[in-house]
Amino acid sequence: MSVSADSGPSAPLRSGPVRVLGIDTSCDDTGVGVVELLPDGRVQLLSNRVWSQTVHARYGGVMPELASREHVERIDEILQDALQEAGLTVTDLDAVAATSGPGLVGALLVGLMYGKGLAQALNVPFHAAHHLEGHIFAAASEAELRAPYLALVVSGGHTHLFDVPRDGEYRLVGATMDDAAGEAFDKIARLAGLGYPGGPAISEAAMRGDPNAVPFKEPLQGQKAFDFSFSGLKTAALLAHRGGARAEDLAASFQRAAVSFLVKTTVRAAQANERRTVVVSGGVAANGALREAFRATGLNVVFPGKGLNTDNGAMIALAGAAAIRAGRPASALNGSATAYAPLANA
Ligand code: KG4
Ligand code: ZN
Repeated sequence: MSVSADSGPSAPLRSGPVRVLGIDTSCDDTGVGVVELLPDGRVQLLSNRVWSQTVHARYGGVMPELASREHVERIDEILQDALQEAGLTVTDLDAVAATSGPGLVGALLVGLMYGKGLAQALNVPFHAAHHLEGHIFAAASEAELRAPYLALVVSGGHTHLFDVPRDGEYRLVGATMDDAAGEAFDKIARLAGLGYPGGPAISEAAMRGDPNAVPFKEPLQGQKAFDFSFSGLKTAALLAHRGGARAEDLAASFQRAAVSFLVKTTVRAAQANERRTVVVSGGVAANGALREAFRATGLNVVFPGKGLNTDNGAMIALAGAAAIRAGRPASALNGSATAYAPLANA
């Protein structure tokens, strides 16, 4: 028996608004969202529902097999919630998008298979989405996203800087050499006894701390490239902690150092690539100090809307809507999930 690579319909069949459902199950959040692509090309967010798994807390990190099982148990309910919030039923959907990578393969497969099955049952096009493209398109909830622009994705798994000269074309201009930015927030929060996830805990504690208390050296000083590194900050934090630094002071000082490093590197890359618009997305983009520092650069900085920084399904629906708007063909239904999938294609 041969398996068909047929993708079903390649474009939405209805004229008028196109309702796109997006699913992300790449890690430990079950996310489903719905957006509407209007005939004039604008996109409207209709719903965004996320189930954040708590089962991993006792292990101090994500347990892949448990994540997959939780996605299986929750996805139906989250999908129903997202449809209800959008005021739609499943037959109102015109297209389905789901993350195919990168991420935990077992976890990805749950949302990917669910999305494909749903698209096939409804006879609507299916779009496999890249998780990082989803993070970037989360900002399309706030402003129309048209190239050229620079995109900084700062999450628990990624610190990647892309130049986007044309829509759909991604050129990697910088990346972390060790930990991701969010990972550094999480590890330093754990060290300081501030809890998990570390990002919100650090930013909350930082309000009560002195950002000058711990002298952090800026990483990769003098580099000509646009790379990132957080291992030096981590070591400095460990030494300061052993030296008796208060958790609040450690949080405030680390946050200031990390924010300054991220902003300076991105501003240099924007100047080098002659870009005026910068998208900053991913979980760390929820950080208030980072947002403030980016706003002060004078660049046109676009952040995702509320609830769209950390992993969610609406960002995948937004990426799917952008693919449909660009006339990209639907994805084959026999494509699989991939743990490692670079976004850069230029
Ligand atoms: O995008 P995301 O949900 O997951 C990945 O795709 O990795 O990002 C999660 C990361 C965590 O490391 C978390 O600590 C961080 O984003 N984060 C923050 C804040 N909120 C979440 N980091 C700094 N400040 C925050 N307010
Ligand atoms: Zn993510």
